[in-house]
Amino acid sequence: MEPVLTRNVGIDGSQTLGVYQARGGYLALRKALGLTPDALVNLVKASGLRGRGGAGFPTGLKWSFMPKDPTPERPNYLVCNADESEPGTFKDRLLIENDPHMLLEGTLIAAYALRAERAFIYIRGEYAYGAKTLIDALREARAAGYVGRDVLGSGWSCEIVIHRGAGAYICGEETALMDSLEGGRGNPRLKPPFPAAHGVYGRPTTINNVETLCCVPFIVERGADWFKAIGPDEKNTGPKLYCLSGHVRRPGVYEAPMGLPLAELIDGFGGGMLRPGRALKAVIPGGSSTPVLRAEECAGLRMDFDALAKAGSMLGSAGCIVMDEGTDMVAVAERVAHFYAHESCGQCTPCREGTGWIEKVIARIRRGGGRPEDLELLDEIAQGMQGTTICPLADAAAMPCRAFVAKFRDEFEHYIERGRPLAAAASGTGA
Ligand SMILES: Cc1cc2nc3c(=O)[nH]c(=O)nc-3n(C[C@H](O)[C@H](O)[C@H](O)COP(=O)(O)O)c2cc1C
Ligand code: SF4
Repeated sequence: MEPVLTRNVGIDGSQTLGVYQARGGYLALRKALGLTPDALVNLVKASGLRGRGGAGFPTGLKWSFMPKDPTPERPNYLVCNADESEPGTFKDRLLIENDPHMLLEGTLIAAYALRAERAFIYIRGEYAYGAKTLIDALREARAAGYVGRDVLGSGWSCEIVIHRGAGAYICGEETALMDSLEGGRGNPRLKPPFPAAHGVYGRPTTINNVETLCCVPFIVERGADWFKAIGPDEKNTGPKLYCLSGHVRRPGVYEAPMGLPLAELIDGFGGGMLRPGRALKAVIPGGSSTPVLRAEECAGLRMDFDALAKAGSMLGSAGCIVMDEGTDMVAVAERVAHFYAHESCGQCTPCREGTGWIEKVIARIRRGGGRPEDLELLDEIAQGMQGTTICPLADAAAMPCRAFVAKFRDEFEHYIERGRPLAAAASGTGA
């Protein structure tokens, strides 16, 4: 596939306005300003674009929930979610650092479609270089008349604010992000009310991922049919960035159509398994919160929303983590559990207690103190966390835990009986 989202990556000065414009940048914004906001929303609906932040919600539909009659007292806002903290995920960083104007253009078009005159880009604190790149690009865009009062003489004004987070995974969850943006502690809020009714500062707000917004200029420029033609079917459309890490020879971010066969990602883009002679054992397809798949479940698998849901997992943030047969899956499960226990905001008892207990029980098994009833206990704790909390972080911890135990039960049992890993899994923790 001809690169779309990564077309400027690797080109000298790709972060600058001059290079971006020379390669056709900001023409889509000009075109968009000649359309009505409703026409833009319909265009994005027709493209089939689904959010790239994890849940895969249809973007045009989400935009259509925003009020059509904002006032100075009750304005509409757009927020770009550039928090990107899911382990295994590093695609938004590539876009921000290499092509910040593409993100600004996507943000501007989306803001116009949403009748918003202010947009926020919330970038994770650890992305210091990305934040600087964005700030420099914003300065250039403002000087060129793309941002600020009366954008390109259209009568529509738009300010963009870049806000740096302080390094908490939970601030990627949309309602926690809004609290953090307002200057408070990043605690998720109960829904409803949904952000389209009550978002940042209590105003109607739409939140979109970086990659989602970067798709928008191309949809405007090349049309919904072009976008829809990329991908396996009407529900899984467009170009996609896949993050590949773990036991592969060439880890990295790769662009391909939505629905890329997993085998092509690992063997083609990734150059195959890292350690010679070792077979594939498991894959976490969409970032650490998505249920692990055994090698045999990966045969013929496509990387898209529906194919992965059918396989019992999720595309999530497309953070594909590959593990070979030398991987100790109990160690990986412990590492994942530790992350969620550390990142729980603590507001809901099932999450605060559950993530802690999952971590403690797996750690006990791994230290050789496991009890035969521990596997049922883990499942019971995880079940009690699903669907019972303010935000989906509890599910993000429970789902992988249940999948690890169900799919690699023999390895957990071996630890419980013998206090050490199965021989085949002893030569590399992968954690
Ligand atoms: C615990 C948690 C962390 C999340 N982290 C991110 C993140 O870092 N980036 C992101 O875009 N979405 C993240 N999300 C999803 C957002 O809540 C939201 O659905 C998304 O930003 C919407 O954008 P989209 O419709 O363009 O996908 C997270 C969700 C949860 C529950
Ligand atoms: S589920 Fe966990 S992270 Fe989410 S609000 Fe509740 S305690 Fe906080």
